[in-house]
Amino acid sequence: AARVVVLASGTGSLLAALIERSRIPGSVFEIVAVGADRDCAAVGIAREAGIESFTCRVADHPDRGAWDEALREHAARAEPDWVVTAGFMKILGPRFLDAFGGHIVNSHPALLPSFPGAHGVAEALAHGVKVTGTTVHLVDAGVDTGPILAQRAVEIGDDDTEDTLHERIKIIERELLADVVAALVTKGVVIEGRKARIL
Ligand code: GAR
Repeated sequence: AARVVVLASGTGSLLAALIERSRIPGSVFEIVAVGADRDCAAVGIAREAGIESFTCRVADHPDRGAWDEALREHAARAEPDWVVTAGFMKILGPRFLDAFGGHIVNSHPALLPSFPGAHGVAEALAHGVKVTGTTVHLVDAGVDTGPILAQRAVEIGDDDTEDTLHERIKIIERELLADVVAALVTKGVVIEGRKARIL
């Protein structure tokens, strides 16, 4: 099975879905480590599942470059084939990207290229769009700018709040992310210009 490192910062429900998928008999990937940049529920989920975890905080390093290098070292120890950022609320640095570039997958709670960044759900709601959704994409040096692998739409209702909308997005997002990771690790991906196609 392909070796996957998951990075997370939050409640870890995407992580939980990936763990569940990885434990179906015959799974094509296994989660070999979970990394976080802060104390968060995702680390507890990893521990309970018996998966190695590490926490690498920006504040514990002299600067962003040192943090980038430390995160790279932590992840490299697990020898991942793929890295998945699942609610990881930090921008990856150049050293991390150099080490794993092309093999990093992110899940975003909006239909990119609309509403990139840390507030994709709130910004879609505030903009008044009627349809938003979830995007799985490869990570490049920009913020949510890498080649798109898959998207699913979610309609916005008149009484949606950020919380109700985000919860509905996450139901779709968990399934899509697990599906895409399973497809990617078995089939691979070709990039033509901006376009990515899972083989
Ligand atoms: C997910 O919706 C993910 O797309 C989003 O955080 C949530 C994490 O949920 N990530 C971002 O907004 C990154 N910019 P979880 O902690 O329950 O897995």
